[in-house]
Amino acid sequence: ADVVNLHWNITWVTAAPDGFARPVIGINGQWPCPELRAKLGDQVIVTIDNQLGNQSTGLHWHGIHQTGTSYMDGASGVSQCPVAPGQQFTYNWTADAAGTYWYHSHDMGQYPDGLWGPLIIEDPNPPFEYDEEIILTLSDWYHEQSADLISAYQSPSGEALDGVAPPSGGALMNSGKNITIHVKPNKTYFIRVICPASYPGHAWLFQDHNQTTVEVDGTYVQPKEANGNGLLTRIAPGQRQGVLIKTFNDTSKNYAIWDTMDVNMLFINKGIIPPPMNYNTNVTGWLVYNESAPLPDPPVFYSLGNANFFDDLDYVPLDEEPLLEPVDHQIVLDTNSVNISGISRFEINNYTYLPAKVPSFYSAITTGNYSSDPEVYGHVNPIVVKKGEIIEIVINNLNTNLHPWHMHGHQFQVLDRPDPMFGKFNGTFRTGYPHAAPVRRDTFMLQDQSWGVIRFKADNPGVWLLHCHIEAHTSSGFVATIIEAPEELAQTNFRIPQDHIDACKTYPMKYFG
Ligand code: C2O
Repeated sequence: ADVVNLHWNITWVTAAPDGFARPVIGINGQWPCPELRAKLGDQVIVTIDNQLGNQSTGLHWHGIHQTGTSYMDGASGVSQCPVAPGQQFTYNWTADAAGTYWYHSHDMGQYPDGLWGPLIIEDPNPPFEYDEEIILTLSDWYHEQSADLISAYQSPSGEALDGVAPPSGGALMNSGKNITIHVKPNKTYFIRVICPASYPGHAWLFQDHNQTTVEVDGTYVQPKEANGNGLLTRIAPGQRQGVLIKTFNDTSKNYAIWDTMDVNMLFINKGIIPPPMNYNTNVTGWLVYNESAPLPDPPVFYSLGNANFFDDLDYVPLDEEPLLEPVDHQIVLDTNSVNISGISRFEINNYTYLPAKVPSFYSAITTGNYSSDPEVYGHVNPIVVKKGEIIEIVINNLNTNLHPWHMHGHQFQVLDRPDPMFGKFNGTFRTGYPHAAPVRRDTFMLQDQSWGVIRFKADNPGVWLLHCHIEAHTSSGFVATIIEAPEELAQTNFRIPQDHIDACKTYPMKYFG
């Protein structure tokens, strides 16, 4: 194994991905931020130098389990203190699972300003063959700064991001508009689709090409084909999907890569269809076989129903890990939006998350026998679980929006997640669910006014967030904290690096909300 050693200066730079110039957060003077690539088993050491001047920061490695290194997870207020302007901070973790991941700021509300990039852990022996690899990121983009959007969202007249006072911007593909990807005939491409979106998810289609999904969120799955003319594949904020595409023999034509924001998440429930003119939910890229052939016309999608999507519940992990049972501990979370003194917030079992003054991981390792007492952790919606338990989490979404739920430190099995309007889980799954080997991932999309059930084994002692990955919602308290095996954490002699401790000397920094 090698060491991947990087030094990243985090600074404001100017970029105009859709023609509108604005300050964005870049790395080493560049935006889009660089791809981080390591081989399975490598040690990844990234030193960040916060040169933003006006904001704290931190980086989270989305999908990486941080086995034994919960304090390298990068979540401000949870596994570390925010890194203040002028400070350096080093992350050091093992690339112990191959797959498609991404990294992003986990200082509340910051990554929509551009601080994210692909994170690829290469597999020396992937369970499929391909000739070349392509990374495709599908994101949303705003002309307004994230801090301003989020405070508008939380303000009494609020809901900016829900369409009442829509922001300007729109969809980006590979951080741009009208991107072209040159392909050769008769080759198999492994396309790593990443959704670093901060509000709506996306749905995409490679025109005329069959695409075969082989990976979701770092889990290899049995190949499953979607035909390029029918259903769109949906991807939620935070999710990744690896697909194989075989290019044609014939190089006389070019093809579109269609992408539309999942408008179900954004405008439909406000009745604003089509979306406002200053916000373009569609973006088209091109698979170019032939430079001199014309590009096809881009399509326009506005009103998509659930029937227009390929169902992502039916992927089967290649290892066929059986359904985890029996359940040792069931946790039911009733979740909803709420107005607290005129401010838009979200609640889990009637509590909105408020960041702890001391990172929750530090509380877990320093409070000895008290570490299993949820009261130690404050207003972080603590869920204490024991080592080795099989945990089932039921999330009831009482809200009229869709929410992509993400868990740190684990992949979970998704047992069932019915269509919208199914109400609360009453203990009965739909016919045919759960599957014998349920799909396993780190982010799943929960439908509006409906429920989802996930399971995981508490085999990774640490402190892990479970949250909606819509950044305005995360910043508005839609977060719970899994305190996993605190008795073991309290007994382990973690050597927290000095720079991590130093970061706490200037904490707490400003949080949005
Ligand atoms: Cu991708 Cu808690 O984050």
